Parts: sequence; structure tokens; C-alpha cells
Amino acid sequence: MAASHDASTQAALVDAFRGGDLSRAETLARRLTATRPGAAFGWKALGSVLLAEGRPRAALDALERALALAGDDPECRNTLGRALLDLGEPARALEVLERARVLRPADPMVLGNLGAALQALGRSEAALVPLARAVALAPDSAAALNNQAGALLVLDRAAAARPLLERALALDPGLVQARANWVRSVEMLRPDAPSPALRGLLVRALDECWCMPQRLLVPSCALLHAEPSIAALIARAAVHWPGSPTLAVLGGASVVAALLDDALLMALLPRVILGDVGLERLLTLLRRALLVEVERARLDAAGLALLVVIAQQCELAEFVHDQTDEETARVAALRAELAEALRWRAPIAAERVAAVAAYLPLGSIPFAERLLERDWPEGLQPLLERQLVEPLAERRQLQHIERWALTEDVVSRRVRAQYERNPYPRWRVSEPVLTPAPDLPALLRQRLPGVELEGVVCPETPEVLVAGCGTGEHAIATARRLRGARVLAIDLSLRSLCHARARSEALGVAVRYAQADLLALAALDERFDLIESVGVLHHLDDPLAGVRVLVGRLRPGGVMLLGLYSERARAAVYRARALVDAAGIGDDPARIRRARQRLIEAADEERVLRPLLDSPDFHSMSGCRDLLFHVQEHCFTPSGLADLFSDAGLELLGVELDPTRRAAYRARFPEDPTVADLARLDTFERDHPLTFAGMYHCWVRPRAGTRPD
Ligand SMILES: C[S@@+](CC[C@H](N)C(=O)[O-])C[C@H]1O[C@@H](n2cnc3c(N)ncnc32)[C@H](O)[C@@H]1O
Repeated sequence: MAASHDASTQAALVDAFRGGDLSRAETLARRLTATRPGAAFGWKALGSVLLAEGRPRAALDALERALALAGDDPECRNTLGRALLDLGEPARALEVLERARVLRPADPMVLGNLGAALQALGRSEAALVPLARAVALAPDSAAALNNQAGALLVLDRAAAARPLLERALALDPGLVQARANWVRSVEMLRPDAPSPALRGLLVRALDECWCMPQRLLVPSCALLHAEPSIAALIARAAVHWPGSPTLAVLGGASVVAALLDDALLMALLPRVILGDVGLERLLTLLRRALLVEVERARLDAAGLALLVVIAQQCELAEFVHDQTDEETARVAALRAELAEALRWRAPIAAERVAAVAAYLPLGSIPFAERLLERDWPEGLQPLLERQLVEPLAERRQLQHIERWALTEDVVSRRVRAQYERNPYPRWRVSEPVLTPAPDLPALLRQRLPGVELEGVVCPETPEVLVAGCGTGEHAIATARRLRGARVLAIDLSLRSLCHARARSEALGVAVRYAQADLLALAALDERFDLIESVGVLHHLDDPLAGVRVLVGRLRPGGVMLLGLYSERARAAVYRARALVDAAGIGDDPARIRRARQRLIEAADEERVLRPLLDSPDFHSMSGCRDLLFHVQEHCFTPSGLADLFSDAGLELLGVELDPTRRAAYRARFPEDPTVADLARLDTFERDHPLTFAGMYHCWVRPRAGTRPD
């Protein structure tokens, strides 16, 4: 009787696990371990379930018990190896998995985990051997193909990885890890000939949100340039730039039809800022020409459809594209006409709304909310949604945001004003979540393989502070990537916080938001296990003062992630600023537009400026303001970082590098696996000056003896 009861529980457990109902599977596994503590199955199942739930530490205990009961069970060893990998303990994992391989030499799962352990130990070349064998044994396993491709990507062999990933995606179109790796394999790709297959996948990746869409800019633009019909249009626009050719001169109805027919372009325009000078000029001239068509009441349905997607692109870039003075005046007249019609509830043609929406946010028109009371052609809805409905929803978030005392610090006030005017960065789609969130030590080991973590304290539900959360991308990513994290996110800018909270709500990620100056946090009672401040401290008058305040908020055993600008990586920004300053150009939107155009022209002559054009920031208004007109900014060299950390009593645990750069750094400096030696980092950065084009991401903690208690 008891045995048949066990069998039915086991069957139900297997069903629940396979069906993804992990909480039921856990309940059943616990029932088995309670009724039959001496049987290995229950413990093994419990370990597998806990691992799938993202709780490798708890899984480890269960699996060790199972192993003690079952003897040398290869499946159990394999799961144990995986748990150790998730805990960031690849050396122990390798030992366990080597034994599993002896027991089951032709098991693709064991080989896959073995490869992952070697990779985590920095032995990527060696990892390829078991991973390739796993593919040979299971050529139709999407997971095995993806694992091999992942190792190739780390070794900078994207061209070899891509076909494996495309096969994996053909076998399992929904495999998120393969989607993410495919994005990595193409994001730097610049095809110089049309490729329908690549186009098709890019359109899918954009439609299905495989990643933050901006990451697909480079291959997408290259494909558009490689398309003869689009290339001809870009060339025609270049001939007329910066004039005001009519739609007929640009190619008339056939051009409109050709652009609307291009699925990739249509997928890009509403989602990706096309940071490409040729395409930008084409779109800018088309917008100019379509405005004239609207004024003359000559726009047909196709013209309206094109104007709507161009308006979406312009809104994404926050209307940073070039405008002639005459154009600006005409848009102002159109805006006044709309305001008047809205005021008297008079009729309005849809194309006039689309034309204005291509130059300024609809929400800035007096009585704009009345636009929502009318029936519009369906094609106009995306504009109304983005420019009216979303901003109104964001404003409603104000009531939910705590407001703490701000400081009188002059720089904080100026910085706040800047980010109230231009919340930054603006985003809509986040990166997908690929694996269950690890706990803090495991996260640190993933970010800094080989890191020594003695003394790091990790509660089940770590308290996290994101100091300077901006528009929430950062705080939401933190809340999602750390198991049990309870995140408090603060920022000076209420508009940024509203954007952040709206995104959190949409994604269902719990984050507590408060308006506060991080300099005022010394008065806060709360303490944190993890503090992250990325892209913030370099905007303080005195970054050291800010770091000291944050150190004071750490719990004993806590760590911090600090993101700071690299002086070397910002050489193009410095040069651009010097040019802009010399020309006496200020920072209102019209001047920012002018500054951009000057810099685009100057980059033809000055190589040093070219990285600027590749920076996504250069192609939006808030990004450009952040990049070129920031009211306050410090930059750091590795030795400047060393001074900062030393003065703040901090020990550097390591600096993050992407997997490919990390492999290169390890090959050169094997004695510094976590990149904690800033002198060596200096040497590396000298040879690869754009390594920290984003910024340095440094993990630090109070030095022993200076730790808060
Ligand atoms: C460039 S954004 C970075 C935002 C976010 N950490 C990220 O990585 O996306 C800088 C943010 O820091 C905020 N900030 C600057 N100084 C601050 C201070 N003293 N206290 C709180 N927030 C601050 C700004 O308001 C702005 O939103």
C-alpha cells in the first residue's frame, strides 16, 4: 500500500516537474523525503526541483543526501555539478562532473555541464571538447548546440557560433538562451550583402523582444545599406542634404511604397534609434517632404502610414533630428492650429496630428488630452499611445513615490534639473531573464569568476540600495538578477522615478522608489547588503564624499557595485565638447540639434570623433545632453580609481569585463583572474582603450579593519 502510494506520488511529482509546476513538485518531493527519508529518490527529486527554482544552495544539501544514499548515481552527480556551477563553484563542480563522465561518458547533459565548468574556470578552449562531443551525440538537441555556441562566443568566434544557434532556434524557437546567444553572435556583424535569412531573424528578434532592441542596430543598419533599393535612396538623400527636396524629388509614391514594404525597416523604426548618419538623413528629408504634403493636403494613406512610423522614430530619438528654421516655424504654426481646433473641439485631419507628432510630443500641445476623446484611424494609435497615454500613466505614478528631503548641494540641484528635463536613459523593452536569479555570493562569482568571498554575508532576502536609479532599467535588472532582493531605488529626478515605476509595474517587478539625494542618505536608518551606484557618482561635485556616504549605509559583510566613467574611453566625448564649447553652442534642444550636425560633419575629418557616432547616446536628445552637455562630470583612470577606493577605505574585489574581454585579460594576466589589480588593468586598457566605453563596473567592499559594524 505504502509502496503504491509512493509510486503515485513519484509519478505526480514527475508530471508537476515536467509541467513546470515547481511549487507542487517541491511539496511532493518534501512529502517523499518526510515519509521515506532513507530513499534517495525523494532527495534527488527535491534537489532537482530546488535547483530549477533557482535555489542551488538548498539543492546542494538535498543532492548530497541523495548521493550518500544512492552511491555513485551519475544523474545525481550531474545535478550536483550543476548546482555547484550555479553557486559559482566551478572547481568543485568539475570534480563532481568528471566522475559523472566516467560513469556516463556519452551523456550530453553531463558533457554540457562539464563544458560549462571548464568555461567558468576560464578554460574555454578545453570546454569546446566536451561541448562539441555533446553535439555529436545529440545533434538535434537545441541545448547542446547552444552550449557549444556559447563557448565559441567567449572565444570571439561569432561566425562559428551563429550557424549552431540558428540550428538550435530552428529546433526550439522559444529557447531563450539560444536567442540571447544569437543576439550576441550578430550584434557586431556588418553584412555587406543582402541576406534574407538574417533579415528574417532580425525581424523576429525585434517582434518577439529577444533583447533590448537597440542591440540589433549594427547588423540591421548594415543590411539596410546592403539592400540596393535602400542604398539608392540613402545616396539620393545624401545628394540633397541638407536641402529641402520635395517628396517627388525623393522618389514620390514608389519610394513610400518601397519603404513600407521593407519589413526590417518597419520593425526597426518604432523600436530602435537608427544611429546611422545615412539613414538619419534619409528619414529627416522624408519627414521634411511629408510635412509639405500634409500642409498641402496631398498625403495619401501610404504617406500617412510612413509618416506615423517616422514620427515613432523621431519620438524615440526625442526629436533630435535636424530641422530647418523654416520647418520649425511651420510646425509651430501647425501646433497652434491643432491647439485651436482642440480648444473648440473642431475637426482635425489625422495627418496633421501625425505631422506634429514627428516634431514634438503631442502631450505638449494645449488641450492634448482631448485627442483621446476622438476616433482616429487605427494607424495613428501607436502615436497616441506613446505620446499621450504612456506619459499620462507615468505622471500618475507621482503619488506612489516617496519624497525624502533633498539637499542644498548646488551640484545636486543642477543635476536634478537636467534629469527632470531629460530623464535618461529612456527605455521600453528589457533584457529577458535567462536563468533563475542566483544569491549574492553566486552572483559575485558569476560576475567575477575566481573571486574570494570570505566575509561576504548573504541573507535570504538581501536588502539592496540602488543609489541613482535613473529611469529604472538598472533597479529592475538588479531586482531580477538577485534572488530574494528587496530593492530600494532612489534618484533626484521625479520624472525619471515616474518612468521607472511605470516600467516596474508593467514588468511586475517590485521595487520601492524614493526621491532622495544620495548625499542625504547618511541620515537614513536602513542598512544594505548590496549597494549599487552606476553612472551616478561621477556626477557629484565630490565623488569621494558620495562613496563615503554609501559605505556608511552598508551592513557588515556588504558589498558595493560602483560604475564610473573611464577617461580613456571618453576621448571622443572630450574632443566633441571642446568643439561644441569653441562654437559657443548651448544646451537647448535647437542648439543640441545644431551641435550634433556639426559633429557629424567634423567626424568626416577627425578620426577621434568617430566612436561618438557609434554611441547610442549621440542619437537621442537626452543621451546627447548626457554625453555632451552634462552639468557635472568626473572621469577616472585606473590610478584615479585606486586613489578613490583607498581614500574611502575600500578593497577592490574586481572589475567586470564581458566574457570575451575577460578571456583576453586572463590570457594576459592569469595571476589576476578577477581584474582587481588596477596597474594591470591600466596596461590592458592602454591597448584596448574602448574596453570601458560604457564605464568601469567595480565591485568593492570596506577593507578589513574599516568595515562598518
Ligand atoms: C546617467 S543616470 C544613470 C541611471 C542608472 N543608474 C543607470 O545605470 O541606468 C544618472 C542618474 O543619477 C542621478 N543622480 C545624480 N546625482 C545624484 C544624487 N546626488 N543623488 C541621487 N541621484 C543622483 C540622476 O538624477 C540620474 O537619474
